[in-house]
Amino acid sequence: MWVTTERVGYWREYFLGKLKIYSGELLKGKIMANYNVYFSPTGTTERVVKHMGESFGSMENIDLSRRDMKNHEMKQGDFCIVGVPSFGGRVPGIATERLRKMKGGRTPAFLLVTYGGRAYEDTLVEWKDVLEAQGFVCIGAAAIVAEHSIS
Ligand SMILES: Cc1cc2nc3c(=O)[nH]c(=O)nc-3n(C[C@H](O)[C@H](O)[C@H](O)COP(=O)(O)O)c2cc1C
Repeated sequence: MWVTTERVGYWREYFLGKLKIYSGELLKGKIMANYNVYFSPTGTTERVVKHMGESFGSMENIDLSRRDMKNHEMKQGDFCIVGVPSFGGRVPGIATERLRKMKGGRTPAFLLVTYGGRAYEDTLVEWKDVLEAQGFVCIGAAAIVAEHSIS
């Protein structure tokens, strides 16, 4: 995989800063549960999401790639990092379908997209729309260049 630790490290610091502001100003309380959420057919997005999540210590993993994925309901005090790969510059349809099994209650989410060095086009904005429709509040986003899984 081509994602360098320095680059991901930079984004991690950036979003931790944002999260601090968000939790201080809006939540006025503690983050209750943290989730790594990822759709990752060949494992890159999963690795990047989990690397970001390491900052939070204990994270529960939700794998959107699994057919047997269960429904999840999250609260405002929870937090999740939600990652997808870019397929044809879009969110993979199956990832959107699985994400609909998750319901947020104004839950803060950090959006993450991996792509194979061509372009991620509408993936981030589309992912934001999908998450907001499910009740999440997007507090930051990153597009991370990785190896192209079909090259
Ligand atoms: C069907 C398909 C379509 C893809 N489309 C794009 C694309 O439009 N732009 C791009 O930069 N990478 C594209 N990629 C590369 C993936 O976005 C990239 O390899 C991603 O990190 C794979 O994530 P994963 O290992 O979590 O599955 C595509 C890969 C596949 C399999």
